Amino acid sequence: MTPSALREQSPAAVGSDPAYLSLTDVRKIYPNGYRAVDSLNIDVPEGQMLGLLGPSGCGKTTTLRMIAGLIEISSGHIRVAGRELAQEPPHKRDMGLVFQNYALFPHMTVAENVAFGLQMRGIPFREARTRVEEALEMVRLPGYGSRKPKELSGGQQQRVALARALVIRPRILLLDEPLSNLDAKLRDEMRVEIREIQQRLKITTVFVTHDQVEALTMCDLVGVMHKGRLAQLGTPEDIYERPNSLFVSEFVGRTNKVRAEVVDLNRIRIGSEVFSADTGGRREGTVWATVRPHRIALSPDRDRALMSRQTNAVRGRVLRVTYIGDIVQYDLDIGGAEFKVEHHTTSQGARYSGGQTLMCEWAPADMLVYGEET
Ligand SMILES: Nc1ncnc2c1ncn2[C@@H]1O[C@H](COP(=O)(O)OP(=O)(O)O)[C@@H](O)[C@H]1O
Ligand SMILES: [Mg+2]
Repeated sequence: MTPSALREQSPAAVGSDPAYLSLTDVRKIYPNGYRAVDSLNIDVPEGQMLGLLGPSGCGKTTTLRMIAGLIEISSGHIRVAGRELAQEPPHKRDMGLVFQNYALFPHMTVAENVAFGLQMRGIPFREARTRVEEALEMVRLPGYGSRKPKELSGGQQQRVALARALVIRPRILLLDEPLSNLDAKLRDEMRVEIREIQQRLKITTVFVTHDQVEALTMCDLVGVMHKGRLAQLGTPEDIYERPNSLFVSEFVGRTNKVRAEVVDLNRIRIGSEVFSADTGGRREGTVWATVRPHRIALSPDRDRALMSRQTNAVRGRVLRVTYIGDIVQYDLDIGGAEFKVEHHTTSQGARYSGGQTLMCEWAPADMLVYGEET
């Protein structure tokens, strides 16, 4: 192969980096017989951050704890850099852990908390002291070493927990909903900070969250979990733009979900209106159609014949207007089905009002079609 051919290939190779952390057919059945995680297959390339996203109870924490070695896997393989972890106890796995509820030792100072893992590993005092200072600087808490955890805010305590996880220079960083106990503004700041530290250290990270914004904004790869299984694995854009199931399309972001009849290839009927959408080869049958609320453009009523044939264009009647501040939500009756539409507000507030008839348009690519829910 010529060098130029190699170069041309490289974009396609994105996502095919060799796995650093690799889960193969991982399964967890708890002693009471509950199947919490089933047939999980995930590869995370070195230095990347994987978000494990899903509703409460879907098996995220169970997965993280299996990677950490805190609970045994029932079957399957977990490998780091090609090496099986199964027989290695937690303290030999070199993993840094951060939990939702800080889990700092209350009677120890910040420095003692951070130094804990180093002492366990027998790192000499002087080296430990330097590394603790470095770690506290990394999480922007230099000089806080002599304080007690209770003298710190929730966000600061969580940074100490992060410093304690990083100070051992782990091969993998495992974060279990680390931002869930923080208020909204602090959460925004910590999202950026954690991502910056992760990228600076190029540390392979698994970040567990039920919050789609955290998963989409912080992670290179997102694994959406549903009932113990991986529903979809992809980049944030894959997951949001090309959800492979109704579950993913509803769990990640908001969407309108309506019943539709396939009337022909790539033609579906909703109520009295016919739309273009990729029907995945179907020519008939009942399906679910989805379109995200902000992908529907609204404009004053006008002659449909003047409009582009490239879009789905249809009349809708405004049922309700809800002003939320940064956005305004219109509930519309379109061909007998109800759709939500969201737009950013301007200083004029809402542009349209209840009872108005509007032109509603969206691209066929923004309307996704799914078979029955599973
Ligand atoms: N020790 C246990 N014994 C039995 N079932 C458990 C145990 N721990 C967790 N589970 C169950 O396994 C499922 C997944 O739990 P978990 O991994 O904590 O979910 P998540 O972190 O996604 O909320 C839940 O239904 C939970 O009740
Ligand atoms: Mg959990």
